[in-house]
Amino acid sequence: MALEPVSLFFFFLLATLLSFARTYQNVSLGSSLTAQSNTNSFWSSPYGEFAFGFQQISGSDGFLLAIWFDKIPEKTIVWSANEGDLLSSGSEVELTTDGQLVLKAATGQQMWKANVNYTGVITYAAMLDTGNFVLVNSNSVYSWESFKQPTDTILPTQTFGGGGSSTTLFARYSETNYSRGRYTFELKEGNLKLYARYSPLDFIYYPYWKSDTEGNANQLVFNQSGSIYLTEKNGGSVIQMLSSNEASPQDFYQRAIFEYEGVFRHYVYPKSNASIERWRRGWTSLTNLPENICLMKTGDNGDDRGLGPCGFNSYCQLDQRPTCQCPEGYSFVDPDDVSMGCKQDFVSQSCNEASPESNLFYFQEMRNGDWAFSKYEHLQQVTEDYCRQECLGDCFCAAATYVNGSCTKKKSPLSNGRIDPSIGGKTLVKTRKSNTSISENGDGDSGKKDESALILIGSILLSSSVFLNFLLMVATVVVFRICHRKRKVLQPCDDLRFPIRNLQCFTYEEIKEMTNEFKEELGCSSDFAKVYKGVLKFGNGSCVAVKRFNRMITESEAEFKAEVSAIGRTNHRNLVQLFGFCNEGQYQILVYEFMSMGSLVNFLSKDSRINWYTRIQIASETASGLLYLHEECSTQIIHCDIKPQNILLDDNFTAKISDFGLAKHLKTGQNLTITAIRGSKGYIAPEWFKKMPITAKVDVYSFGILLLELICNRKSLELKAEDDFQMVLADWAYDCFMDKKLHVLVEEDNEAMDDWKNVEKYVKIALWCIQQDPSMRPSMKKVTQMLEGTVKVSIPPDPYSFISSI
Ligand SMILES: *[C@@H]1O[C@H](CO)[C@@H](O)[C@H](O)[C@H]1NC(C)=O
Ligand SMILES: *[C@@H]1O[C@H](CO)[C@@H](O)[C@H](O)[C@H]1NC(C)=O
Ligand SMILES: *[C@@H]1O[C@H](CO)[C@@H](O)[C@H](O)[C@H]1NC(C)=O
Ligand SMILES: *[C@@H]1O[C@H](CO)[C@@H](O)[C@H](O)[C@H]1NC(C)=O
Ligand SMILES: *[C@@H]1O[C@H](CO)[C@@H](O)[C@H](O)[C@H]1NC(C)=O
Ligand SMILES: *[C@@H]1O[C@H](CO)[C@@H](O)[C@H](O)[C@H]1NC(C)=O
Ligand SMILES: *[C@@H]1O[C@H](CO)[C@@H](O)[C@H](O)[C@H]1NC(C)=O
Repeated sequence: MALEPVSLFFFFLLATLLSFARTYQNVSLGSSLTAQSNTNSFWSSPYGEFAFGFQQISGSDGFLLAIWFDKIPEKTIVWSANEGDLLSSGSEVELTTDGQLVLKAATGQQMWKANVNYTGVITYAAMLDTGNFVLVNSNSVYSWESFKQPTDTILPTQTFGGGGSSTTLFARYSETNYSRGRYTFELKEGNLKLYARYSPLDFIYYPYWKSDTEGNANQLVFNQSGSIYLTEKNGGSVIQMLSSNEASPQDFYQRAIFEYEGVFRHYVYPKSNASIERWRRGWTSLTNLPENICLMKTGDNGDDRGLGPCGFNSYCQLDQRPTCQCPEGYSFVDPDDVSMGCKQDFVSQSCNEASPESNLFYFQEMRNGDWAFSKYEHLQQVTEDYCRQECLGDCFCAAATYVNGSCTKKKSPLSNGRIDPSIGGKTLVKTRKSNTSISENGDGDSGKKDESALILIGSILLSSSVFLNFLLMVATVVVFRICHRKRKVLQPCDDLRFPIRNLQCFTYEEIKEMTNEFKEELGCSSDFAKVYKGVLKFGNGSCVAVKRFNRMITESEAEFKAEVSAIGRTNHRNLVQLFGFCNEGQYQILVYEFMSMGSLVNFLSKDSRINWYTRIQIASETASGLLYLHEECSTQIIHCDIKPQNILLDDNFTAKISDFGLAKHLKTGQNLTITAIRGSKGYIAPEWFKKMPITAKVDVYSFGILLLELICNRKSLELKAEDDFQMVLADWAYDCFMDKKLHVLVEEDNEAMDDWKNVEKYVKIALWCIQQDPSMRPSMKKVTQMLEGTVKVSIPPDPYSFISSI
């Protein structure tokens, strides 16, 4: 019978492999290895494919007793002793004269021992070219094999589960921490199952994957040509799990690993060019082995235990590998170990019914995001606004998921969080606006100035009664003290003694490198400056916006200084953050955080609309940034150029005010008269044209216009409007309001139509803001309170009534 060429080839291959397996490089009894830095300390296989010994773990001074691929630069570990716990320098492994393989710490303490099968006397040990380390007895039988005690990896020719071998793989803790991690892979009772486990106890949760071969599966085989299959007990048919595509054993190293993130994967590594290659993903999965572990659940049908891949309060998102992130207002418990979850950084909502604090919280929107567990209330057929109000008013509610008209309230700690397009809907994460409890400061217009004015007015009114006057003075001073102290403690603009809060100072060379010689222009921010995209070298290489001023124009220097001194002192989530600057000879440059979604102006049209709730959130966030500038910093800052071009949006559509080139500082109580008009057409308050004092109310006016734009999702001036009277948004809005035809403003916006009460409210607020008489306009504090709903909004007068009365 003639052998076909292919079979012949396999025959020779098999013969070669068998001869490999027989060629031992014997480790004789009494041999030992010691862990030492910079010293190779291992026993190698005959062809040098694998090594057994001590490997120093990069990034630490600890060692592992391990087996690794020795011919590739990474020296990838495939097995380790001592449950992956690190050993110190000086630790020793010995094959004792009586045939025991023992690992001892430098102190002499026994750390680990191979659990041998006592049939016959052990005569030597050997590292084989398959990756198996064996202890061989006098009958040439293996009394112990590393292949039967796998850790997280299996190799070609290795079988898992049968013939006295271990039935569990433990995923390691992280990529570089080999200690036992959060997942186990178990072949038990004829079923292969993947579990998350509750460490340090070996308690396991409901399996997140199983082979559904109840009672039948016998062992998992990784054969020489790179297939993995489950064999059945009765020797019957095999269940193919994973199949190799083109990885032939002559050309590729292979391994299958139960990875730290709980996924079972096959990798191949080309043998030629080994020094410049990397491990590549090999198999494609045949049975639905989980690839996106973010969607894994540790409980089933109401048995909501366990915390998902990312720990409590955290959420998981697949990006090549699963990544864990904290929602806003939360931060990692341990930044070096993100799987520990996130902690809440703000004071929880008070459950005191007298002060429900619902106005002090806002929602961060997580599209396609959810925490699968932690639910405690389910409301059906409600609007999104209802869902929001429900959660805001409920101190137990940490987040709410809104999908298809149903609202699910979630309590703390949030568990099994993930973002994936398959989830749909959105989750609203409740976060405190800031740690400052604004409401406790009363609703005065602005801090100190008003309080002293109050003292003055009080004194005049009550001067007839010296005693009463005295009482009033005492009371006012006490109130003032309390407010003052509270401000001190909670004031977010700390460090005001230093004009420029730890800003990075860049050299021009660094800026050039960062922007790749000003390659990518993002736009012009004013007549005097251009903005470029850059990448920070340090940190995580995050993107930045680099604003370069044109030194040829004298005004630009003033603009640069105004901007640094205004924003350099601020620190608020709704103001764009300045990272640093460069002021080198003729170069004046500012480096800002990069806002990925760009400016709000790009979204104010029918074609690229942001949804209603995001728009009103942008309005509240802009208001909150302005409130901070006007009232929460020691010197008041007037922005002077609020318009959609200057409202930037990040990934989550969080609004941040930018461009402080025209900003003005005012000491408390100071008024400003400027002759040169600042600001932009369509958004400029009328007092600029009337030589009236300029106050923070100019920003309120511009905000009012911006609010109308957000409500109606269009620009303030639209030259190509369908009707002439729609051209100027402010006028059109007032007319619609007077004619009780507000619906025409939001006609095509179903979400807004469904939220009718709020549309009405926001239009009223906007009309208050655009009053021609600055004193009629509310302060930003009042505006935020009206937006939040803590202050009622009365009917606004005609914005022009002031003019007609002059
Ligand atoms: C290894 O030891 C066995 C048994 O003592 C012996 O038969 C064999 O020749 C040795 N092999 C080598 C390469 O030393
Ligand atoms: C020990 O060795 C005997 C004989 O080789 C074998 O039948 C048995 O399965 C082995 N036990 C273990 C636990 O490996
Ligand atoms: C690995 O993780 C375990 C579990 O958190 C921890 O106890 C151990 O210190 C870590 N080891 C290293 C080297 O970081
Ligand atoms: C490995 O298993 C696959 C699938 O069962 C089979 O086609 C292949 O021939 C096997 N290879 C070897 C060397 O046994
Ligand atoms: C080895 O590297 C060379 C040059 O990079 C490349 O052309 C060749 O395809 C590589 N060989 C394999 C097997 O990847
Ligand atoms: C808010 O206050 C809490 C408790 O006082 C504190 O732990 C937390 O760090 C504060 N958060 C911020 C962002 O200041
Ligand atoms: C929402 O409703 C639509 C249409 O009824 C349906 O196709 C979709 O699957 C639902 N989404 C969820 C998450 O239930």
